[in-house]
Amino acid sequence: MHFFPSRTRTGILILSALLALPCFLLDPTSCPAGQKQSMATYLGVQACQPCHPQEYQRFITYAKKNRSFESIERLRKGLTAEEVNRCYGCHTTGYGKPGGFVSIEETPLLKNAGCEVCHGPGSIHVQTGSLAAIRRRLSKEECEECHISDRVQTFRFKPLIHGGAH
Ligand code: HEC
Ligand code: HEC
Ligand code: HEC
Ligand code: HEC
Repeated sequence: MHFFPSRTRTGILILSALLALPCFLLDPTSCPAGQKQSMATYLGVQACQPCHPQEYQRFITYAKKNRSFESIERLRKGLTAEEVNRCYGCHTTGYGKPGGFVSIEETPLLKNAGCEVCHGPGSIHVQTGSLAAIRRRLSKEECEECHISDRVQTFRFKPLIHGGAH
């Protein structure tokens, strides 16, 4: 057998399990990548600015996502509350997910579709700088959660993978 994890790592995972603690509280480097990000919550684009000023600047200057809440506001009159909630699913950050958008009053920083709709919730990455705690390789499927086919008949992923981002 050649795939034994290191003894410390095993120890930490067992300890986490026994104490029912998320692994990152004990030692973030011991977390499986997916788990690391799945414990994270959403912060909004401002939280990314200090360490990624270029992506931030380009995003807030050019991306329509950075104004996606306004698109809801434009059409809100005449929509039922239920219909507006459906808009939130694609036009805000993390609606319906842990630590995501709730309402304009409670979570104003998450009102637009921000960095984290593509890169995933960023709180652990922001605390630790860990690459395993942020989504780096994006797939077409992740875009299609919102860019659904009947909305965007001609959505072409390849040429657009960097479109609408930074
Ligand atoms: C405290 C500083 C800090 C903050 C705040 C921060 N990051 Fe990072 N980020 C890093 C570091 C450090 C790296 C790793 C750079 C490297 O090793 O290439 C990184 C890498 C990344 C990468 C991967 C880059 C690559 O090379 O593939 C992405 C994507 C990313 N960050 C997104 C975000 C997002 C989105 C936010 C806001 C939610 C954010 N970061 C906030 C420090 C930060
Ligand atoms: C959480 C939902 C969501 C996800 C996930 C998402 N988008 Fe978007 N995207 C939107 C919304 C909403 C708009 C329109 C904003 C508006 O005009 O109000 C948009 C706009 C765009 C645009 C229009 C041009 C521009 O300047 O913004 C492009 C291109 C785009 N997205 C590409 C992508 C790609 C590529 C991915 C995957 C890597 C992706 N999007 C993932 C919601 C999403
Ligand atoms: C399934 C995800 C999804 C839902 C739900 C959704 N949108 Fe969008 N919306 C998008 C995407 C993606 C775009 C980007 C352009 C496109 O692909 O048509 C967009 C574009 C728009 C635009 C056009 C912005 C422009 O600059 O032309 C408006 C306005 C808009 N949405 C309003 C709404 C409203 C209001 C609701 C709720 C009734 C809603 N959307 C629900 C994903 C969604
Ligand atoms: C529409 C989806 C989308 C949004 C929104 C988005 N990104 Fe990205 N980001 C990408 C893609 C796609 C890549 C390239 C990944 C790859 O190389 O495969 C990327 C790469 C990065 C990288 C790695 C270095 C680089 O520029 O290639 C960093 C850092 C990053 N994003 C930070 C951010 C920050 C900060 C925000 C918000 C201000 C943001 N991203 C918003 C899709 C997005």
